[in-house]
Amino acid sequence: MRAVVCDRLGDPSVLQIKDVPVPEIGPADVLIKVGAASVNFPDVLMLTADYQHKPDLPFIPGMEGAGTISAIGAEVKTWKVGDRVIFGVRPGAFAEYVTVPASGNLMRLPQGWSDAEGSAFRVGATTAYHSLVHRAALKPREVLLVHGASGGVGMAAVQLGKHLGAQVIATGSDDQRLSVVREQGADLVVNLRTADFVAIVKGLTDGRGANVVYDPVGGEVLEKSMRAAAYGARLLVVGFTSGGPTKIMSNHVLIKGLSILGVRAGETARRAGSDYAKDYAVELPRLAALGVMRPHISHRFPMERAADAFRVLIDRKVVGKAVIEIG
Ligand SMILES: NC(=O)c1ccc[n+]([C@@H]2O[C@H](COP(=O)([O-])OP(=O)(O)OC[C@H]3O[C@@H](n4cnc5c(N)ncnc54)[C@H](OP(=O)(O)O)[C@@H]3O)[C@@H](O)[C@H]2O)c1
Repeated sequence: MRAVVCDRLGDPSVLQIKDVPVPEIGPADVLIKVGAASVNFPDVLMLTADYQHKPDLPFIPGMEGAGTISAIGAEVKTWKVGDRVIFGVRPGAFAEYVTVPASGNLMRLPQGWSDAEGSAFRVGATTAYHSLVHRAALKPREVLLVHGASGGVGMAAVQLGKHLGAQVIATGSDDQRLSVVREQGADLVVNLRTADFVAIVKGLTDGRGANVVYDPVGGEVLEKSMRAAAYGARLLVVGFTSGGPTKIMSNHVLIKGLSILGVRAGETARRAGSDYAKDYAVELPRLAALGVMRPHISHRFPMERAADAFRVLIDRKVVGKAVIEIG
């Protein structure tokens, strides 16, 4: 089969298309013919070994995709050949075929969705769901401040926050991309380059601040968020696209009675096992069927241009997700 292979660390130019064997299927696995796979920020970090998970070289990048089951292991009872599915993998999605365990890593592709849409759902949706539902317990009418809202995990949080009844304020750095975020459900969008989000959040809440902050960006954005947060607010530390970990002022945490909540959606699911089975088997499919967190795709590339799919993400051109169409 053809696959996008990373055999040395570096920028996206290291990626090459190679012929590699179709992965072997174990008794509890399914083999999927991949239709599409989407790019996430951690894929970029893995190319330079800057992500917490460092796959051995050579490896096939890609954490999520969608396609059609083409074979099942002897022990698999819940899926059949021909089922269209959304899958997660650690990594390996940018290939014509992938094997994944039949339990936990699969979800049925919602009716009417394309493979491209399905391929862009899982990481954003699980991160937003784990953050807003399990970690922050977001309540209707609370004020939710979402940073990095034009990106994959940010846009999913905007969509889910709105569905859960929150008032959603979303930030980003580009008016055009933010206009899509507004269409996806944000009540208000703030361009960080031209406006002060702290003053805007305070103004909108009679000086109280946001109840929940969802932050995939870090750096100055996280530092300022302490000032935009309400007394007793929950701050979700989701990622550091601005460059790296950020020091948090403990006096701000104390004075405002803040809860700082680390988010590791994938790792929590792996550790909690069956406690999270309901999310994947019931809650996320239910939300997807309602159209909640249906991905917005701004860029599509053929497999031969996988490096360009990484580049548009690095260059902050993507609105929602960039997808590699494979099958
Ligand atoms: N905790 C978890 O479980 C979990 C799960 C998945 C991903 N993540 C993390 O979440 C973060 C976002 O991932 P993603 O896939 O949503 O990324 P993405 O699609 O590239 O979106 C990231 C957003 O961050 C903003 N940004 C600010 N400064 C940036 C910079 N210097 N470079 C690039 N973007 C910058 C961009 O918005 P503007 O250009 O509008 O400013 C961009 O839309 C990453 O750090 C990732 O590792 C965490």
